[in-house]
Amino acid sequence: MVAQAGVPYQVADRDRIVKDLPMINLHNNPFDLFEAWMGEAEASELNDPNAMTLATATPNGTPSARIVLLKGWDRHGFVFYTNLESRKSIEIIQNPSVALLFHWKARKRQVRIEGIACKVGDSEADAYFDSRPRLSRIGAWASDQSRPLANREILERRLELEIAKYADSPIPRPPHWSGWRVAPDAIEFWEDRDFRLHDRALFSRTGNGWIATRLFP
Ligand SMILES: Cc1cc2nc3c(=O)[nH]c(=O)nc-3n(C[C@H](O)[C@H](O)[C@H](O)COP(=O)(O)O)c2cc1C
Repeated sequence: MVAQAGVPYQVADRDRIVKDLPMINLHNNPFDLFEAWMGEAEASELNDPNAMTLATATPNGTPSARIVLLKGWDRHGFVFYTNLESRKSIEIIQNPSVALLFHWKARKRQVRIEGIACKVGDSEADAYFDSRPRLSRIGAWASDQSRPLANREILERRLELEIAKYADSPIPRPPHWSGWRVAPDAIEFWEDRDFRLHDRALFSRTGNGWIATRLFP
C-alpha cells in the first residue's frame, strides 16, 4: 500500500489510482464548477449545504472563524448576511481580506475561497431581509450580535418589545444589518481520492480571467 512506509503499493492499487481518477477539469470556469458542486451538495448533505466557514482577521493578523450561510452568489461574489456591528463585521471593516470554506462531508469535497468583502447595496439587502420569516426579521432588531448578554431574559424581553412594536406594521431592515459580498481572487476545489492522492484545482484571478493550476495534495 502507498501509505505503508517501505512497502511498495500493489499493481492493483496503482491501476485503481490511475483508472479511478476523473480529475477536475482545469478548463472549467470556476463558477460553473462551483454551481455543479453546490448542486450535488444540495442533493447529498444532511442539512445546510450552504453553510461555510468565514475567516476574518484583525489588521494585526489575529484570525477568527465562524459559520455563516451563503445566501446568494454569482460571478461578482459570494454573499452572506449578518449584523454590521458583530465581531466579524468589525474585523471586515478594518481588514476586508477574508476566506470562505465549504466542507461537503458526504461528497468528501471542500472549496476554499479567498477574496475581498464589500457591503451589498441597500436594495439588495432590503430584498433579502424582506424574504426572511417575520420572527427572524424581528430578531435582527432584538440582538446585539457578539456583545455581552447578561442573561437570556434580557434577549427574550427585547424580542417581546420588538414584537409589540411591529405588531401592525412592516418590519424595516435595521441599519445595523446587511450583507457582505466576497469578490473572489482565488477558488480552490479539493476532492478526496484514494490513498490521500487528492485532487486539487486552484483557480486564480488574473485581471478579467482566471488561470487554473493543479496542486499536489
Ligand atoms: C449553521 C450555522 C449557520 C449560521 N449562519 C449565520 C449567518 O448566516 N449569519 C450570521 O451572522 N451568523 C450565522 N451563524 C452564527 C455565527 O456562526 C456566529 O456565531 C455569529 O455570526 C457571531 O459571529 P461573530 O461574533 O464572529 O461576528 C450561523 C451558525 C451556524 C452554526
